[in-house]
Amino acid sequence: VVAAGSGTRFGGPKQYTELGGRRLVDWALDAARRACDGVVLVAPPDRPDHDPAADHTVPGGATRSASVRCGLEAVPADAPVVVVHDAARPLAPPELFDAVIEAVEAGADGAVPGVLVADTLRRVEGGVLDRDGVVAVQTPQAFRADALRRAHEGDPDATDDATLVEAAGGRVVVVEGDRRNLKVTDPTDLELVRALLP
Ligand code: CTP
Ligand code: MG
Repeated sequence: VVAAGSGTRFGGPKQYTELGGRRLVDWALDAARRACDGVVLVAPPDRPDHDPAADHTVPGGATRSASVRCGLEAVPADAPVVVVHDAARPLAPPELFDAVIEAVEAGADGAVPGVLVADTLRRVEGGVLDRDGVVAVQTPQAFRADALRRAHEGDPDATDDATLVEAAGGRVVVVEGDRRNLKVTDPTDLELVRALLP
């Protein structure tokens, strides 16, 4: 669970904001715990203390990709499948973790949840993107551990891990995402998530 961002667009460390009687990050930790054998929390470098909600707590890096690498170092070497999840998505159900894990166990190098894009996509400079066959990609994302580790060699950077695994030659499949699995980016997103709490 990567939670080492600074929440610039939110206006502060959103992962620790209150949501439904606990910290926002606790929702992600809880869902990860239900689906996975072990949970690594990647925390902001200024909050490196062990978090009892995780098995390991490690300080993150300057970018999301760097934070994923920090977390990977704490994942046992014999774990065959690694799931990366954004703390900023508190509504991801454990079933979504199960679905991406199953897709990897079925032979993919990586699996991501995708949802259809409802809006027309236009380039600001002009020209509309064909929405056919396009999905918006969420987390949790599951990977064969060796494919994820190899994809991170050389310290590349991208907005998600599937991008890196694919760039390294891996096969990434899309499973059906969940439209409620919103990412808290700005304060409006938090209002929406609050309204959707189980
Ligand atoms: N993240 C991280 N380490 C970073 C940057 C981001 O672990 N150096 C995590 C965030 O904590 C979040 C997820 O990656 O759970 C997705 O990032 P984002 O939504 O962009 O969060 P922030 O980077 O915190 O927000 P902002 O970009 O507005 O600063
Ligand atoms: Mg960010």
